Order: sequence, then structure tokens, then C-alpha cells
Amino acid sequence: MDYSSIKRIKDIDVASRRVLVRVDFNVPIKDGKITDDTRIRAALPTINDLVTRGASVVLMSHLGRPKGKPEQKYSMEPVASRLAELLDNGEVLLTDSCSGDGARRVVFDLRDGQVALLENLRFHAGEEANDEKLSRELATFGEIYVNDAFGTAHRAHASTAGVAAFIRQKAMGFLMEKEVMALSKLLGEVTRPYVAVLGGAKVSDKIEIIENLMSRVDALVIGGAMANTFLAAKGMAMGSSLVETDKLPLARDIMARAEARKVRLLLPSDLVVAASPEAERGEVVSIDKVAPGKMALDIGPASSESFRELIMRAGTVFWNGPMGMFEKAPFAEGTLSMAKAAATSAGYTVVGGGDSVAAVNQSGLDHRFDHVSTGGGASLEMLEGKILPGLAALMP
Ligand code: 3PG
Repeated sequence: MDYSSIKRIKDIDVASRRVLVRVDFNVPIKDGKITDDTRIRAALPTINDLVTRGASVVLMSHLGRPKGKPEQKYSMEPVASRLAELLDNGEVLLTDSCSGDGARRVVFDLRDGQVALLENLRFHAGEEANDEKLSRELATFGEIYVNDAFGTAHRAHASTAGVAAFIRQKAMGFLMEKEVMALSKLLGEVTRPYVAVLGGAKVSDKIEIIENLMSRVDALVIGGAMANTFLAAKGMAMGSSLVETDKLPLARDIMARAEARKVRLLLPSDLVVAASPEAERGEVVSIDKVAPGKMALDIGPASSESFRELIMRAGTVFWNGPMGMFEKAPFAEGTLSMAKAAATSAGYTVVGGGDSVAAVNQSGLDHRFDHVSTGGGASLEMLEGKILPGLAALMP
């Protein structure tokens, strides 16, 4: 899909206009505290630009997955506070709901340069249903609509798709533009060899991207729990590891197709195993030595080294998904070693997806990547060649 006809915010005169901006402030929150504010920071260039040019700004986002009704733990309150700290003018007005009189009052009273944030869109059932009534109401909150929520661009919801039909002037924000440009590069002519590194738990979650990447990449590295299913399909005994037994034929089929297409498909050669994810440490074993009652929780050092060598020689690297149970310290090493390898590769490097991006941030190497995507599902769907509804809605 060619998104080049979509307007950029710099093409639009926003002075003294009310601009409705869809952002993706779906950030991780633990005990009421934001544990990673990357997505809030990523939206600052757009917000600051609009404020500086004299617009009043109405921000809207979802947070988590509440089921169409308010739930305190998903309130945007911590997000509004964090955003206020990050903005130059230090003020964000949070509405009590994303719709209704309370929201309307705050929005229509905004002065030039002021910023409001609507309460969680998913507290309203109409958001995910892409309801026309909610879309029309949201559209009254802005004279101009900007979508900067790349992370949610794969959802056809009222705030990402429906609303755009009812506002004449629309554009993409700076973050959306940056994401589209960086990921589009992977869909065109790339510098070879092109290596894709895929991890995560389920083959079923990644099947479409595997199929799409197969026709583009020179090598496909598979790690994480997903690799267990491939190893089991090759006849390895995987102990009590997570294996999708119903996907064994699919894994065999993928391996056969990779061979026919001459795409190198790399699986781990060793693993870190333990009796459970709660174990204090793991044991490194070869893939044919996973004992009954033991489960694979990370790739082993030999696997990390062979994946690293391939990544270092790559002209292009796309990485999505952790190599193991990254959130548990004894099983984080494989994922961190991929972060280091990709960061030091001379090739064009792109990483997307919550855990892999967390690993990149944790290793402090984010600035060494050509692009760290704020979208997990959205970046995958873009590379699968799917049309993203949030972008399609902005087309003139
Ligand atoms: C994400 O975190 O991938 C986006 O914010 C979309 O969230 P969702 O998967 O709950 O729609």
C-alpha cells in the first residue's frame, strides 16, 4: 500500500484551530506507575509542534483492554500526569470520559496552546465497535484530525478509522510518518543479506509474517518458545516445554518451503532449561538433551553465537519477539544478546514488539538501531503487507 498521498501535519495550518490527535498511550502500568513511557515520549514531537504553532490540542488514546466500561486501573490519570511533566507548558486537562457533556466542556473551553486528554477511549463500547455515533461525536472535538498512533494503526476503531470520515482535514503525525518510512524500507529493495529474527510464544501468532518474510529474506532465525514447536517437528523430545502440537504439520511445511526457496532457517542448537519459569537458574543443554519435566525457557549460548554471527554480517535486520522468557532474569540472556548483536550490526536494523523493544531499551542500545518501532502488532501487519486501517482512513 502506498501511503505517500497522506498529508503531513506540517502541510496544514493549525494556528488557532482545535486539533484532535489519536495517540497510542497504551503504556505498561504496574501498581499505578508507568514502567515505560516510550510511547508518551514518542508522541511529543507532534504535540509540541501543534502547541508551538498555536493550536489547541485534544489527545485521545486507549489504555489496556477494559471491556467497554470504566475501570479505575485503566484510567488515563497516570498518563496525563506523566505527559504534563514532559510538556513545556506542564499542563494537561484530563476529561472524565471520552464522550458526553464533561468532555465537551473541557474541549470547547480550550485556549490556543492548551492540551486536553480524553479519558480512556475503551471505556466506551463504541470505540472498538467502530460505532458511527461515537465517531461523529469525537469528530466534533476537532477541526483537524491527526493520527499519530502507529501502535494502533492496525485496529479499525472509532478513533482510528471511523472518526476520519467526519473531519475534512486530516493528516499523519511525525511518529506515524517516521514509522511508515522506516518500515516501508523493509518492503522495498533492501541491502542483502536480509535476516529476520522472530521469537515469542506461538507459531500461530507469527504464521502470516513468516509466510510473507519467506519471499523476501535470505535467512529466518526462529527463537523463543515458538522454536520449540519447530524442534519438536524435527523429532526432538522437548520435555515439558511449550509446544503447539496442532502446529507441528505447519512447522514441517514451513521448513520444507524454506528449503525449497533456499531461505536459511536457523533454529536454536542449545537451550536453557529448568523445571519451571520460577526456577532461580537454568541449565544449558543441547536440543537433543531436554529431559522429561524440564522446559526450554531461553536459547543457549551456542545458539546466541551462531545467530549473532549471521546478524553481524547482515545488510538488513528485522527483529520481533523475545528469544526466551525475557521478563525472568535467569532466562533473559538470549534476548539481550540478540539486542546487542542487532545494535552492533552495520546493516539497517529495525526492531518492533513490546518485549524485544524492552530488551533493546534495557540494554541501553536503542540509539544504535536504525528504527525502534512503537508498534508490535502494527509493525507485523505492515510487513505482512496488510493495509493498516488507521492509515487507510487518512488517505485523501
Ligand atoms: C498495542 O499495544 O499493540 C496497541 O496499543 C494496540 O493494543 P491492542 O492490541 O489492545 O489493540
